[in-house]
Amino acid sequence: MDIRRVSVVGCGLMGSGIAEVAAKSGFDVTVLEVDDEVLERGKGRIKRSMDRAVEKEKLTLADREAAWDRLHFTAKVSDLESSNIVVEAITENLDAKVELFRELDKSCPGDTIFASNTSSLTVTDMAAATSRGDRFVGLHFFNPVPVMKLVEVVRTIATSQETVDRAMQFSRALGKVPIAAKDNSGFVVNLLLVPYLLDAIRQLEHGVATIEDIDTAMALGLGYPMGPFILCDFVGIDTLYKISEIMFEEYRDARYAPPPLLKRIATMGRFGQKTGKGFYDWSGEKPVALPV
Ligand code: CAA
Repeated sequence: MDIRRVSVVGCGLMGSGIAEVAAKSGFDVTVLEVDDEVLERGKGRIKRSMDRAVEKEKLTLADREAAWDRLHFTAKVSDLESSNIVVEAITENLDAKVELFRELDKSCPGDTIFASNTSSLTVTDMAAATSRGDRFVGLHFFNPVPVMKLVEVVRTIATSQETVDRAMQFSRALGKVPIAAKDNSGFVVNLLLVPYLLDAIRQLEHGVATIEDIDTAMALGLGYPMGPFILCDFVGIDTLYKISEIMFEEYRDARYAPPPLLKRIATMGRFGQKTGKGFYDWSGEKPVALPV
């Protein structure tokens, strides 16, 4: 069976990006959110991103209209019944994900593929709560989804080869480059990225250099598009804190332990770009490093 109808659950930063890319790639997309208010916010995010693509002449007006027509928004799980694949991109909370997949398992036909965009939980923990372990994969996208080319396709010990093949094919149809990863917490990218970001915070705690100088060093010394603190604010301080806790819980390895400074900044509600403050103040034209 070909994948034609895609559902995306969660229309935050990642879900809206996945829905946008899928609609632009010609898929019929249904977006599910908890209520109409959250849906409206998600719709606005997709619309702004598409408008930006039109302004930058990456998308024609006609293609934007066609993509918009392929997008449907709902707050009812039962509207996802005819999906060929459901991609979950809700908050990084295992209980919430398990509850959602249990509900989806009851309402979707047996051949619908379930995919989670989790970044640090294990896919197995969600797949085990459903009756379709063989049709359950991880599809891990990167932020900003319309720009970043990678998708990590994650197989558990129960995922069938056919499901992996179809997930790879689907990722390519979205214009992405899939890589295959085993279901270990953090897959490939976060297994390397998270200790790097946490080490940068530890450097700061030890007074090795300032926020700006560490960022300049990594951007100019290694050609990274963003230094580690800009990247922390971009990923979200709350998200990074949650991911590091999950990975530390999984591996009990000090490399993944959230440094106290990360916890303090998260506790203060400085979640990064999305709240206007993290390691930097984002309210002006240029980010300004905040005292820590
Ligand atoms: N949507 C669509 N297009 C976007 C965009 C968005 N949200 N943000 C940027 N772009 C496009 C711009 O239109 C621009 O396109 P052109 O070059 O064709 O004009 C291009 O991307 C570059 O953007 P800008 O010139 O505005 O800014 P930039 O050169 O600083 O690039 C960036 C922005 C692409 C985000 C770049 O800084 C970058 O690659 N940063 C690293 C991002 C990264 O590491 N992401 C992974 C985070 S980890 C993660 O997601 C996984 C996890 O589990 C934590």
